[in-house]
Amino acid sequence: TEKKYILAIESSCDDTSAAVLCNTEVLSNVVATQEIHRQYGGVVPELASRAHQQNIVPVVHQALAKANIDKKQLSAIAFTRGPGLMGSLLVGTSFAKSLALGLDIPLIEVNHMEAHILAHFIKDQDTQRPEFPFLGMTISGGHTQIVQVNNYFEMKVLGETLDDAVGEAFDKSAKLMGLPYPGGPLVDKYAREGNPKAYPFPKPKVEGLNFSFSGLKTSILYFLQRETQKNADFVQENIKDICASVQHTILEILMDKLKLAVKQTGIKRVAIGGGVAANSGIRSRLKEAEETMGWKTYIPKFAYCTDNAAMVGIVGYLKFLEEDFTDQSAAAKARYAI
Ligand code: KG4
Ligand code: ZN
Repeated sequence: TEKKYILAIESSCDDTSAAVLCNTEVLSNVVATQEIHRQYGGVVPELASRAHQQNIVPVVHQALAKANIDKKQLSAIAFTRGPGLMGSLLVGTSFAKSLALGLDIPLIEVNHMEAHILAHFIKDQDTQRPEFPFLGMTISGGHTQIVQVNNYFEMKVLGETLDDAVGEAFDKSAKLMGLPYPGGPLVDKYAREGNPKAYPFPKPKVEGLNFSFSGLKTSILYFLQRETQKNADFVQENIKDICASVQHTILEILMDKLKLAVKQTGIKRVAIGGGVAANSGIRSRLKEAEETMGWKTYIPKFAYCTDNAAMVGIVGYLKFLEEDFTDQSAAAKARYAI
């Protein structure tokens, strides 16, 4: 096959990223993570937008330099059109449009949620590509969604969160325990040494394949308030058991829905992605499901789980093959369904 070079740009939330792909192979994938949000304990949209403005040109230059590609060799520019924060999306969208116009090459819009799922089809990974149809579950600080994937561009959302994303549930619980943002990885770390059954938290009652995590946060808040009234050092003394119990509840919620999705569709191939896919608990649950229920499970390389432009690039390449190009009038979309 002919070599096509795609420059991809991702700026939907708080990571500014640019990647260069040669067909399905990633030549570079540069991510500038915005540290500014840490001190606020969450992403501040206005600051994210400003940081993208500062980062976008150097990040694109680095991506081209690392790939050892001149911009004149590019076949197309792919960019995340949505969903995400409007002020963040606008930076990547405007930049991608201008560059495509300047180079006189096609522009390709990418849906961020489709990109998380198609990240499995990036070439240089140890794991196998999932066969169609499969179930995709994207779990991160911004999203919680189960999708039936019949083909590259034939996806159907089966369920999603009605309130907080699963990563938010981790981060907000961690914050209640006084852990720094983002607390997900720390909860994971402590949970490994704690008793997951120490403190039972209620699971939400949500019909079908949708999720809800805001109730869990509230019950953790009340639980911690009650216990610290009795013993001011309760959290410090029991951090491992609390984290293990919180994580256990979150994993039960995720696995219950996955099992239901498998039951409803008859599809036993389950591919997960998003930052929470780094969680050691979800990884062992999926392994267990392979052994006990005959599932086949897939997790992309971590760099392609968290927000990154390489996943935008693989969608860009697949759309390039279909000549599915975007008009210069395309506007960023904060809400953008699969
Ligand atoms: O995909 P991502 O980097 O950014 C977006 O939200 O788009 O995901 C970040 C989220 C954060 O909520 C973070 O706490 C969570 O993923 N996370 C984890 C782990 N590593 C990252 N949550 C639980 N366990 C982990 N090991
Ligand atoms: Zn994302």
